[in-house]
Amino acid sequence: MRSSRLKGFFKLDRGERLDSIREFGELPVDQTRTLGKDGALPFELADLFIENAIGSFPLPLGIATNLRVNGRDYIVPMAVEESSVIAAASNAARWAYESGGFTAEAVSNLMIGQIQMLGLSPEEFDSAELKIHRNREIILRMANEVHPRLLMRGGGARDLEVRKFPHAEIPFFVVHVLIDPKDAMGANIVNAVCEKVAPFIEQLTGGHSGLKILSNLADRRIFKAQVKIKPEIIAVNEPGEEIDGLTVAHKIHEAWVFAHEDAYRATTHNKGIMNGIDPVVIATGNDWRAIESGCHAFAARSGQYRSLSRWYVDSENMLCGELEVPLQIGTVGGVTRLHPLAQFSLSILGNPTSQELGCVMAAVGLASNLSALRALVTTGIQRGHMKLHAKNLALAAGARGKEVEIISTLMVRDKKISASHAERALELLRGATDANRGLDLDPSLAVNQSARGPEAWL
Ligand code: MEV
Repeated sequence: MRSSRLKGFFKLDRGERLDSIREFGELPVDQTRTLGKDGALPFELADLFIENAIGSFPLPLGIATNLRVNGRDYIVPMAVEESSVIAAASNAARWAYESGGFTAEAVSNLMIGQIQMLGLSPEEFDSAELKIHRNREIILRMANEVHPRLLMRGGGARDLEVRKFPHAEIPFFVVHVLIDPKDAMGANIVNAVCEKVAPFIEQLTGGHSGLKILSNLADRRIFKAQVKIKPEIIAVNEPGEEIDGLTVAHKIHEAWVFAHEDAYRATTHNKGIMNGIDPVVIATGNDWRAIESGCHAFAARSGQYRSLSRWYVDSENMLCGELEVPLQIGTVGGVTRLHPLAQFSLSILGNPTSQELGCVMAAVGLASNLSALRALVTTGIQRGHMKLHAKNLALAAGARGKEVEIISTLMVRDKKISASHAERALELLRGATDANRGLDLDPSLAVNQSARGPEAWL
Protein backbone atom coordinates (compact mmCIF):
# COMPACT_ATOMS: atom_id res chain seq x y z
CA MET A 1 0.00 0.00 0.00
CA ARG A 2 1.20 3.54 -0.76
CA SER A 3 2.28 5.37 2.35
CA SER A 4 1.34 8.98 3.01
CA ARG A 5 4.34 9.24 5.35
CA LEU A 6 6.33 11.28 2.85
CA LYS A 7 9.21 11.96 5.20
CA GLY A 8 11.12 15.16 4.45
CA PHE A 9 8.54 16.27 1.85
CA PHE A 10 8.96 19.84 3.10
CA LYS A 11 12.67 19.75 2.32
CA LEU A 12 12.14 18.91 -1.37
CA ASP A 13 12.10 21.53 -4.08
CA ARG A 14 8.94 22.08 -6.09
CA GLY A 15 9.88 19.67 -8.89
CA GLU A 16 10.71 16.92 -6.41
CA ARG A 17 7.47 17.50 -4.52
CA LEU A 18 5.51 17.19 -7.75
CA ASP A 19 7.38 13.99 -8.62
CA SER A 20 6.52 12.63 -5.22
CA ILE A 21 2.82 13.47 -5.61
CA ARG A 22 2.79 11.99 -9.09
CA GLU A 23 4.27 8.82 -7.77
CA PHE A 24 1.88 8.64 -4.83
CA GLY A 25 -1.21 9.31 -6.95
CA GLU A 26 0.08 7.47 -10.04
CA LEU A 27 -0.75 10.64 -11.94
CA PRO A 28 0.23 11.35 -15.54
CA VAL A 29 2.91 14.01 -16.02
CA ASP A 30 0.37 16.16 -17.88
CA GLN A 31 -1.78 16.52 -14.84
CA THR A 32 0.85 18.20 -12.70
CA ARG A 33 1.34 20.65 -15.58
CA THR A 34 -2.15 22.03 -14.86
CA LEU A 35 -0.48 23.77 -11.94
CA GLY A 36 1.31 25.96 -14.46
CA LYS A 37 4.03 28.35 -13.41
CA ASP A 38 1.92 30.33 -10.95
CA GLY A 39 -1.24 28.26 -10.62
CA ALA A 40 -3.43 31.02 -12.07
CA LEU A 41 -6.76 30.10 -13.60
CA PRO A 42 -6.96 30.64 -17.37
CA PHE A 43 -8.93 33.85 -17.91
CA GLU A 44 -11.49 32.13 -20.17
CA LEU A 45 -12.45 29.93 -17.23
CA ALA A 46 -12.53 32.75 -14.69
CA ASP A 47 -14.77 34.64 -17.10
CA LEU A 48 -17.02 31.60 -17.38
CA PHE A 49 -17.28 31.10 -13.61
CA ILE A 50 -18.16 34.64 -12.56
CA GLU A 51 -19.40 37.94 -13.91
CA ASN A 52 -17.12 40.93 -14.50
CA ALA A 53 -14.02 38.74 -14.19
CA ILE A 54 -10.68 40.50 -14.36
CA GLY A 55 -8.35 37.67 -13.37
CA SER A 56 -7.90 35.05 -10.71
CA PHE A 57 -6.62 35.19 -7.13
CA PRO A 58 -4.19 32.35 -6.52
CA LEU A 59 -3.80 30.95 -3.02
CA PRO A 60 -0.86 28.79 -2.04
CA LEU A 61 -1.66 25.14 -2.73
CA GLY A 62 0.19 22.65 -0.56
CA ILE A 63 0.06 19.04 0.51
CA ALA A 64 -0.64 17.67 3.97
CA THR A 65 1.10 14.37 4.46
CA ASN A 66 0.73 11.45 6.87
CA LEU A 67 -3.04 11.08 6.71
CA ARG A 68 -4.56 7.65 7.16
CA VAL A 69 -8.34 7.32 7.21
CA ASN A 70 -10.15 3.98 7.51
CA GLY A 71 -6.88 2.17 6.82
CA ARG A 72 -6.17 4.06 3.60
CA ASP A 73 -3.35 6.59 3.14
CA TYR A 74 -4.03 10.01 1.65
CA ILE A 75 -1.92 13.01 0.83
CA VAL A 76 -4.20 15.99 0.98
CA PRO A 77 -4.23 19.10 -1.23
CA MET A 78 -4.92 22.24 0.79
CA ALA A 79 -5.35 25.77 -0.60
CA VAL A 80 -4.69 28.25 2.19
CA GLU A 81 -2.88 31.50 2.86
CA GLU A 82 -2.24 30.98 6.58
CA SER A 83 1.21 29.69 7.41
CA SER A 84 1.44 26.70 9.76
CA VAL A 85 -1.94 25.24 8.77
CA ILE A 86 -0.50 22.51 6.55
CA ALA A 87 2.39 21.77 8.89
CA ALA A 88 -0.05 21.55 11.81
CA ALA A 89 -2.39 19.17 9.99
CA SER A 90 0.51 16.99 8.82
CA ASN A 91 2.02 16.82 12.31
CA ALA A 92 -1.17 15.75 14.03
CA ALA A 93 -1.92 13.35 11.16
CA ARG A 94 1.43 11.75 11.93
CA TRP A 95 0.54 11.35 15.63
CA ALA A 96 -2.70 9.73 14.55
CA TYR A 97 -0.87 7.58 11.98
CA GLU A 98 1.41 6.25 14.68
CA SER A 99 -1.69 5.32 16.66
CA GLY A 100 -3.44 3.57 13.73
CA GLY A 101 -4.93 6.54 11.89
CA PHE A 102 -8.42 8.04 11.83
CA THR A 103 -11.69 6.28 11.36
CA ALA A 104 -14.42 8.24 9.63
CA GLU A 105 -17.88 7.70 8.21
CA ALA A 106 -20.57 9.47 6.27
CA VAL A 107 -23.45 9.21 8.72
CA SER A 108 -26.07 10.41 6.23
CA ASN A 109 -26.14 12.02 2.79
CA LEU A 110 -29.31 14.08 2.61
CA MET A 111 -29.65 17.72 1.61
CA ILE A 112 -32.64 19.74 2.76
CA GLY A 113 -34.76 21.83 0.43
CA GLN A 114 -37.11 24.35 2.07
CA ILE A 115 -40.44 25.59 0.79
CA GLN A 116 -41.89 28.38 2.90
CA MET A 117 -45.71 28.26 2.92
CA LEU A 118 -47.72 31.40 3.68
CA GLY A 119 -51.30 32.58 3.57
CA LEU A 120 -52.89 30.07 5.95
CA SER A 121 -53.88 30.73 9.56
CA PRO A 122 -52.09 28.70 12.26
CA GLU A 123 -55.35 26.77 12.87
CA GLU A 124 -55.09 25.43 9.30
CA PHE A 125 -51.49 24.22 9.65
CA ASP A 126 -52.29 20.74 11.01
CA SER A 127 -54.67 19.87 8.20
CA ALA A 128 -52.19 21.24 5.63
CA GLU A 129 -49.52 19.00 7.15
CA LEU A 130 -51.83 15.99 6.94
CA LYS A 131 -52.54 16.66 3.26
CA ILE A 132 -48.85 16.91 2.52
CA HIS A 133 -48.07 13.61 4.27
CA ARG A 134 -51.00 11.87 2.53
CA ASN A 135 -49.57 12.98 -0.81
CA ARG A 136 -46.00 12.12 0.13
CA GLU A 137 -45.50 9.55 -2.63
CA ILE A 138 -46.86 11.89 -5.32
CA ILE A 139 -44.66 14.77 -4.16
CA LEU A 140 -41.55 12.57 -4.03
CA ARG A 141 -42.30 11.13 -7.47
CA MET A 142 -42.74 14.64 -8.82
CA ALA A 143 -39.45 15.67 -7.19
CA ASN A 144 -37.65 12.74 -8.76
CA GLU A 145 -38.85 13.70 -12.23
CA VAL A 146 -36.58 16.75 -12.02
CA HIS A 147 -33.39 14.66 -12.19
CA PRO A 148 -34.18 11.17 -13.48
CA ARG A 149 -30.46 10.44 -13.80
CA LEU A 150 -29.96 11.09 -10.09
CA LEU A 151 -32.54 8.40 -9.40
CA MET A 152 -30.69 6.03 -11.72
CA ARG A 153 -27.47 6.70 -9.76
CA GLY A 154 -29.21 5.70 -6.55
CA GLY A 155 -29.99 9.20 -5.27
CA GLY A 156 -33.17 11.22 -5.28
CA ALA A 157 -35.90 12.64 -3.04
CA ARG A 158 -36.33 10.51 0.07
CA ASP A 159 -38.72 12.15 2.49
CA LEU A 160 -40.78 15.17 3.49
CA GLU A 161 -41.05 17.03 6.78
CA VAL A 162 -43.29 19.87 7.89
CA ARG A 163 -42.15 22.46 10.45
CA LYS A 164 -44.60 25.04 11.79
CA PHE A 165 -44.06 28.60 12.99
CA PRO A 166 -47.52 29.65 14.20
CA HIS A 167 -46.20 32.43 16.48
CA ALA A 168 -44.03 34.16 13.92
CA GLU A 169 -44.75 37.78 13.02
CA ILE A 170 -46.29 36.36 9.87
CA PRO A 171 -47.32 32.76 10.67
CA PHE A 172 -45.96 30.23 8.19
CA PHE A 173 -44.92 26.63 7.86
CA VAL A 174 -42.07 25.05 5.97
CA VAL A 175 -41.98 21.90 3.89
CA HIS A 176 -38.61 20.18 3.88
CA VAL A 177 -37.78 17.92 0.95
CA LEU A 178 -34.92 15.57 1.87
CA ILE A 179 -32.82 14.65 -1.14
CA ASP A 180 -29.82 12.37 -1.57
CA PRO A 181 -27.68 14.15 -4.21
CA LYS A 182 -25.11 11.30 -4.31
CA ASP A 183 -21.76 12.78 -5.35
CA ALA A 184 -23.06 16.26 -6.19
CA MET A 185 -23.05 19.13 -3.72
CA GLY A 186 -26.74 19.27 -4.51
CA ALA A 187 -27.62 22.98 -4.48
CA ASN A 188 -28.96 23.04 -8.04
CA ILE A 189 -30.80 19.76 -7.69
CA VAL A 190 -32.43 20.77 -4.42
CA ASN A 191 -33.44 24.25 -5.59
CA ALA A 192 -34.91 22.86 -8.80
CA VAL A 193 -36.93 20.27 -6.85
CA CYS A 194 -38.33 22.91 -4.49
CA GLU A 195 -39.44 25.05 -7.39
CA LYS A 196 -41.00 22.05 -9.13
CA VAL A 197 -43.10 20.73 -6.22
CA ALA A 198 -44.13 24.08 -4.68
CA PRO A 199 -47.12 24.68 -7.01
CA PHE A 200 -48.53 21.25 -6.14
CA ILE A 201 -48.13 21.94 -2.41
CA GLU A 202 -49.91 25.30 -2.93
CA GLN A 203 -52.75 23.48 -4.69
CA LEU A 204 -52.97 20.86 -1.92
CA THR A 205 -52.96 23.24 1.02
CA GLY A 206 -54.53 26.42 -0.37
CA GLY A 207 -51.52 28.44 0.81
CA HIS A 208 -48.96 30.18 -1.34
CA SER A 209 -45.26 29.53 -1.39
CA GLY A 210 -42.60 32.03 -0.38
CA LEU A 211 -38.93 31.06 -0.58
CA LYS A 212 -37.90 27.88 -2.30
CA ILE A 213 -34.24 27.15 -1.56
CA LEU A 214 -31.89 24.63 0.01
CA SER A 215 -30.87 24.93 3.65
CA ASN A 216 -27.16 25.26 4.32
CA LEU A 217 -27.73 23.79 7.75
CA ALA A 218 -26.98 20.39 6.23
CA ASP A 219 -27.54 18.44 9.44
CA ARG A 220 -28.56 15.32 7.50
CA ARG A 221 -25.26 15.25 5.66
CA ILE A 222 -23.05 14.52 8.61
CA PHE A 223 -19.51 13.20 8.66
CA LYS A 224 -17.91 11.76 11.74
CA ALA A 225 -14.18 11.30 12.33
CA GLN A 226 -12.57 9.66 15.33
CA VAL A 227 -9.06 9.07 16.57
CA LYS A 228 -7.30 7.51 19.54
CA ILE A 229 -3.82 8.79 20.26
CA LYS A 230 -1.22 7.03 22.37
CA PRO A 231 -0.22 9.65 24.94
CA GLU A 232 3.53 9.07 24.59
CA ILE A 233 3.29 10.36 21.02
CA ILE A 234 2.15 13.80 22.12
CA ALA A 235 4.62 14.18 25.00
CA VAL A 236 6.88 17.23 24.91
CA ASN A 237 10.47 16.10 24.88
CA GLU A 238 12.33 19.36 24.41
CA PRO A 239 15.13 19.69 26.97
CA GLY A 240 14.01 21.77 29.91
CA GLU A 241 10.39 21.75 28.79
CA GLU A 242 9.44 18.08 29.12
CA ILE A 243 5.77 17.24 29.69
CA ASP A 244 4.66 13.62 29.77
CA GLY A 245 2.06 12.53 27.24
CA LEU A 246 -0.71 11.69 29.68
CA THR A 247 -0.46 15.16 31.20
CA VAL A 248 -0.73 16.67 27.71
CA ALA A 249 -3.76 14.45 27.02
CA HIS A 250 -5.49 15.61 30.21
CA LYS A 251 -4.71 19.24 29.40
CA ILE A 252 -6.27 18.74 25.95
CA HIS A 253 -9.37 17.42 27.70
CA GLU A 254 -9.42 20.54 29.92
CA ALA A 255 -9.06 22.71 26.81
CA TRP A 256 -12.01 20.93 25.23
CA VAL A 257 -14.16 21.55 28.32
CA PHE A 258 -13.40 25.26 27.90
CA ALA A 259 -14.60 25.16 24.27
CA HIS A 260 -17.65 23.07 25.13
CA GLU A 261 -18.82 25.54 27.78
CA ASP A 262 -17.78 28.93 26.45
CA ALA A 263 -18.92 30.24 23.07
CA TYR A 264 -16.03 32.71 22.89
CA ARG A 265 -13.54 29.86 23.12
CA ALA A 266 -15.68 27.48 21.02
CA THR A 267 -15.55 29.91 18.11
CA THR A 268 -11.74 29.92 18.10
CA HIS A 269 -11.59 26.17 18.74
CA ASN A 270 -13.88 25.60 15.75
CA LYS A 271 -11.83 28.01 13.65
CA GLY A 272 -8.94 25.64 14.30
CA ILE A 273 -11.07 22.79 12.94
CA MET A 274 -12.04 24.82 9.88
CA ASN A 275 -8.32 25.51 9.35
CA GLY A 276 -8.15 21.89 8.24
CA ILE A 277 -11.47 21.60 6.45
CA ASP A 278 -11.71 24.82 4.44
CA PRO A 279 -8.42 24.45 2.55
CA VAL A 280 -9.48 21.01 1.29
CA VAL A 281 -12.91 22.39 0.42
CA ILE A 282 -11.28 25.17 -1.59
CA ALA A 283 -8.68 22.91 -3.25
CA THR A 284 -11.44 20.60 -4.46
CA GLY A 285 -13.55 23.45 -5.87
CA ASN A 286 -16.28 23.18 -3.25
CA ASP A 287 -18.39 25.96 -1.74
CA TRP A 288 -16.61 27.00 1.44
CA ARG A 289 -19.24 29.60 2.37
CA ALA A 290 -21.84 26.85 2.50
CA ILE A 291 -19.58 24.66 4.61
CA GLU A 292 -18.70 27.49 6.97
CA SER A 293 -22.29 28.60 7.57
CA GLY A 294 -23.42 24.98 7.93
CA CYS A 295 -20.72 24.01 10.42
CA HIS A 296 -21.21 27.04 12.65
CA ALA A 297 -24.99 26.71 12.69
CA PHE A 298 -24.53 23.02 13.54
CA ALA A 299 -22.21 24.00 16.39
CA ALA A 300 -25.09 26.04 17.84
CA ARG A 301 -27.73 23.32 17.41
CA SER A 302 -28.25 22.90 21.17
CA GLY A 303 -29.08 26.59 21.53
CA GLN A 304 -25.55 27.36 22.66
CA TYR A 305 -22.59 27.61 20.31
CA ARG A 306 -20.24 24.78 21.30
CA SER A 307 -17.17 22.89 20.16
CA LEU A 308 -17.72 20.77 17.05
CA SER A 309 -15.26 18.20 18.39
CA ARG A 310 -14.90 16.32 21.64
CA TRP A 311 -11.67 15.30 23.39
CA TYR A 312 -11.34 13.05 26.41
CA VAL A 313 -9.02 10.49 27.99
CA ASP A 314 -10.47 6.98 28.07
CA SER A 315 -10.09 4.24 30.69
CA GLU A 316 -6.97 2.96 28.89
CA ASN A 317 -5.40 6.41 29.08
CA MET A 318 -5.72 6.99 25.34
CA LEU A 319 -6.50 10.51 24.14
CA CYS A 320 -9.76 10.18 22.18
CA GLY A 321 -11.04 12.74 19.71
CA GLU A 322 -14.33 12.89 17.79
CA LEU A 323 -15.64 15.36 15.29
CA GLU A 324 -19.09 15.61 13.72
CA VAL A 325 -19.59 18.10 10.94
CA PRO A 326 -22.15 18.74 8.21
CA LEU A 327 -20.32 18.84 4.88
CA GLN A 328 -22.27 19.77 1.77
CA ILE A 329 -19.62 18.81 -0.74
CA GLY A 330 -19.50 17.32 -4.20
CA THR A 331 -16.99 15.57 -6.41
CA VAL A 332 -18.99 15.99 -9.61
CA GLY A 333 -20.54 18.97 -11.31
CA GLY A 334 -19.96 22.70 -11.13
CA VAL A 335 -16.56 24.19 -10.42
CA THR A 336 -15.31 20.85 -9.12
CA ARG A 337 -15.56 19.48 -12.66
CA LEU A 338 -14.46 22.60 -14.55
CA HIS A 339 -11.58 23.90 -12.45
CA PRO A 340 -8.34 22.20 -13.53
CA LEU A 341 -6.84 22.49 -10.06
CA ALA A 342 -9.94 21.03 -8.43
CA GLN A 343 -9.61 18.08 -10.80
CA PHE A 344 -5.94 17.83 -9.96
CA SER A 345 -6.70 17.88 -6.23
CA LEU A 346 -9.31 15.16 -6.62
CA SER A 347 -6.80 13.04 -8.55
CA ILE A 348 -4.26 13.42 -5.76
CA LEU A 349 -6.95 12.16 -3.40
CA GLY A 350 -7.58 9.17 -5.67
CA ASN A 351 -10.81 10.53 -7.23
CA PRO A 352 -12.93 9.87 -4.15
CA THR A 353 -16.70 9.76 -3.92
CA SER A 354 -18.14 12.74 -2.07
CA GLN A 355 -18.62 10.49 0.95
CA GLU A 356 -14.98 9.45 0.96
CA LEU A 357 -13.91 13.07 0.46
CA GLY A 358 -16.04 14.14 3.43
CA CYS A 359 -14.33 11.51 5.58
CA VAL A 360 -10.93 12.92 4.60
CA MET A 361 -12.08 16.48 5.34
CA ALA A 362 -13.45 15.52 8.75
CA ALA A 363 -10.19 13.73 9.60
CA VAL A 364 -8.10 16.74 8.54
CA GLY A 365 -10.38 18.98 10.62
CA LEU A 366 -9.84 16.80 13.67
CA ALA A 367 -6.07 16.68 13.02
CA SER A 368 -5.88 20.48 12.79
CA ASN A 369 -7.86 20.80 16.00
CA LEU A 370 -5.52 18.39 17.81
CA SER A 371 -2.43 20.17 16.59
CA ALA A 372 -3.70 23.55 17.78
CA LEU A 373 -4.76 22.17 21.16
CA ARG A 374 -1.45 20.44 21.78
CA ALA A 375 0.43 23.62 20.97
CA LEU A 376 -1.90 25.69 23.17
CA VAL A 377 -1.57 23.41 26.19
CA THR A 378 2.21 23.07 25.89
CA THR A 379 4.51 25.66 24.33
CA GLY A 380 1.72 28.04 23.31
CA ILE A 381 0.73 28.83 19.77
CA GLN A 382 3.08 31.71 19.12
CA ARG A 383 6.34 29.81 18.87
CA GLY A 384 5.35 27.77 15.82
CA HIS A 385 3.39 30.63 14.32
CA MET A 386 6.23 33.04 14.78
CA LYS A 387 8.68 30.91 12.81
CA LEU A 388 6.36 30.99 9.83
CA HIS A 389 5.28 34.56 10.41
CA ALA A 390 8.96 35.53 10.38
CA LYS A 391 9.33 33.86 6.98
CA ASN A 392 6.35 35.81 5.65
CA LEU A 393 7.83 39.05 6.97
CA ALA A 394 11.16 38.23 5.36
CA LEU A 395 9.42 37.57 2.07
CA ALA A 396 7.42 40.77 2.35
CA ALA A 397 10.63 42.69 3.04
CA GLY A 398 11.96 41.44 -0.30
CA ALA A 399 14.09 38.49 0.81
CA ARG A 400 14.35 35.73 -1.74
CA GLY A 401 15.70 32.17 -1.80
CA LYS A 402 18.10 31.39 1.05
CA GLU A 403 17.75 34.94 2.41
CA VAL A 404 14.27 34.04 3.69
CA GLU A 405 15.56 31.25 5.93
CA ILE A 406 18.51 33.29 7.16
CA ILE A 407 16.48 36.35 8.06
CA SER A 408 13.59 34.47 9.65
CA THR A 409 15.95 32.34 11.74
CA LEU A 410 17.71 35.43 12.96
CA MET A 411 14.48 37.17 13.92
CA VAL A 412 13.18 34.13 15.81
CA ARG A 413 16.47 33.63 17.60
CA ASP A 414 16.56 37.25 18.72
CA LYS A 415 12.80 37.30 19.41
CA LYS A 416 12.57 40.42 17.25
CA ILE A 417 9.91 39.59 14.71
CA SER A 418 8.58 42.57 12.83
CA ALA A 419 8.47 44.04 9.35
CA SER A 420 11.06 46.65 10.29
CA HIS A 421 13.47 44.02 11.58
CA ALA A 422 13.01 41.94 8.48
CA GLU A 423 13.77 44.98 6.29
CA ARG A 424 16.76 45.90 8.40
CA ALA A 425 18.13 42.39 8.42
CA LEU A 426 17.77 42.13 4.66
CA GLU A 427 19.56 45.41 4.21
CA LEU A 428 22.41 44.20 6.39
CA LEU A 429 22.50 40.80 4.82
CA ARG A 430 22.84 42.34 1.43
CA GLY A 431 25.87 44.20 2.58
CA ALA A 432 24.55 47.54 3.78
CA THR A 433 26.56 48.68 6.77
CA ASP A 434 24.50 51.67 7.78
CA ALA A 435 23.45 50.06 11.07
CA ASN A 436 22.07 53.03 12.97
CA ARG A 437 18.65 53.98 11.74
CA GLY A 438 16.80 53.89 15.02
CA LEU A 439 15.80 50.24 14.81
CA ASP A 440 16.37 48.06 17.83
CA LEU A 441 17.78 45.12 15.94
CA ASP A 442 21.01 44.55 17.83
CA PRO A 443 23.31 46.57 15.54
CA SER A 444 26.57 45.12 16.87
CA LEU A 445 25.35 41.64 16.14
CA ALA A 446 24.02 42.65 12.77
CA VAL A 447 27.17 44.47 11.72
CA ASN A 448 29.43 41.71 12.95
CA GLN A 449 27.34 39.05 11.34
CA SER A 450 26.99 40.85 8.04
CA ALA A 451 30.74 41.43 8.02
CA ARG A 452 31.26 37.68 8.36
CA GLY A 453 28.85 36.83 5.58
CA PRO A 454 25.36 35.37 5.48
CA GLU A 455 26.27 31.90 6.85
CA ALA A 456 27.32 33.48 10.15
CA TRP A 457 23.76 34.70 10.67
CA LEU A 458 22.72 31.17 11.49
C1 MEV B 1 -5.37 29.73 14.52
O1 MEV B 1 -5.50 29.79 13.11
C2 MEV B 1 -6.22 28.63 15.09
C3 MEV B 1 -6.20 28.52 16.61
O2 MEV B 1 -6.55 29.75 17.20
C4 MEV B 1 -7.18 27.43 16.99
C5 MEV B 1 -7.40 27.28 18.48
O3 MEV B 1 -7.24 28.24 19.23
O4 MEV B 1 -7.78 26.15 18.87
C6 MEV B 1 -4.82 28.18 17.11
